[in-house]
Amino acid sequence: MEISTIGPVSYYKTMTVLLLGATSNMAVALARHYASNGHNLQLAARSSKEIEILKNDFSIRYGITAEAYPFDALDYHNHAQWYAAIPNKPDLVILVFGYLGDHERATHQWEESQKIIASNYTGAVSILNVIAHDFEQRKKGTIVGISSVAGDRGRMSNYVYGSAKAGLTAYLSGLRNRLTHAGVHVMTVKPGFVRTKMTEGLPLPAPVTATPEKVASLIYKAAQKKKNSIYVLPIWAPIMLIIKNIPEFIFKKLKL
Ligand SMILES: NC(=O)c1ccc[n+]([C@@H]2O[C@H](COP(=O)([O-])OP(=O)(O)OC[C@H]3O[C@@H](n4cnc5c(N)ncnc54)[C@H](OP(=O)(O)O)[C@@H]3O)[C@@H](O)[C@H]2O)c1
Repeated sequence: MEISTIGPVSYYKTMTVLLLGATSNMAVALARHYASNGHNLQLAARSSKEIEILKNDFSIRYGITAEAYPFDALDYHNHAQWYAAIPNKPDLVILVFGYLGDHERATHQWEESQKIIASNYTGAVSILNVIAHDFEQRKKGTIVGISSVAGDRGRMSNYVYGSAKAGLTAYLSGLRNRLTHAGVHVMTVKPGFVRTKMTEGLPLPAPVTATPEKVASLIYKAAQKKKNSIYVLPIWAPIMLIIKNIPEFIFKKLKL
C-alpha cells in the first residue's frame, strides 16, 4: 500500500484503482489483491453483467467501494466521454485488456489482424491518451500497462500480436518520459506465460509460467516501488536478453 507522509504522521493512503479489461483472469487477481489491501475499485469491461457480479463480490468480501463501468476498448470515439463520466477519477489505472487471436488466420485474413492490432494497441492508445491528459493536469497518478515479451522481438509464430505489443511497449515508454515531468508514474509489465483464459489449452512450460495471482502480487509490489518496466517472472529478463541478442542471420533461420 502506498504510504504518504503529512507532517509527522505517516498513514496508508487508500487509492482508487481503475482496471481496464476487468474480467480478465489477471485483472480479477489484481482486483482481489488491491481490494484485500483496502483499496477501492473501478471495474471496466465489456460484460456489464460480469463486472456487476465482481463489484458486488469485492465490496461485500473486502468492505471497499467498488464501481462497475461498461467499457469497450474498440469504442474509440466514446473514450473521452466515457472517462469524463466517471465521477471520482482513479489514482491508479491498470490497462489489462488484450487479444491473442489466431496468428495463422491473421496472416491471411485482415479482419483478424485488425482485431489483434486494435485490441492490443489502438484501443490502448485511445483510452490512455485521455487518462494521461487528466493525470498530467492533476499532476499525480500511476498508469500500469500490460504489454508482453512477444513485443521484444518479432517471431514467426505470433508477429501480428507481437508487433501490436511492441507498439504498446514503445507507447508506454514515451508516455513515461512525458508524464514523469508532471509527477505521474508509468510502468510497463511484460508477462511471459501466464495461465489464463487466453492461454487455455496451450502447452506452457511450468518453470516459466506464472499464475494470475503471482502476476498480481508482482505488479502490486513493483508499482509501489515505482519500477519502470518489469518482466513476469524475473527469469524472463535473461531469456529475453538472449533472444534479443541473437544475430539476425541466425535468428531468421530459427523456427520460433
Ligand atoms: N496469458 C498470457 O500468457 C499473457 C502473456 C503476455 C501478455 N498477456 C497480456 O495480459 C493481458 C491479460 O490477459 P489474460 O492472460 O488475463 O487473458 P484474458 O483472461 O483472456 O483477458 C483478456 C481480456 O481482455 C478483454 N478484452 C479483449 N478485447 C476487449 C475490448 N475490445 N474491450 C474491452 N476488453 C477487451 C477480454 O474481455 P472479455 O472478457 O469481454 O472477452 C478479457 O477480459 C492481455 O493484455 C494479454 O495480452 C498475457
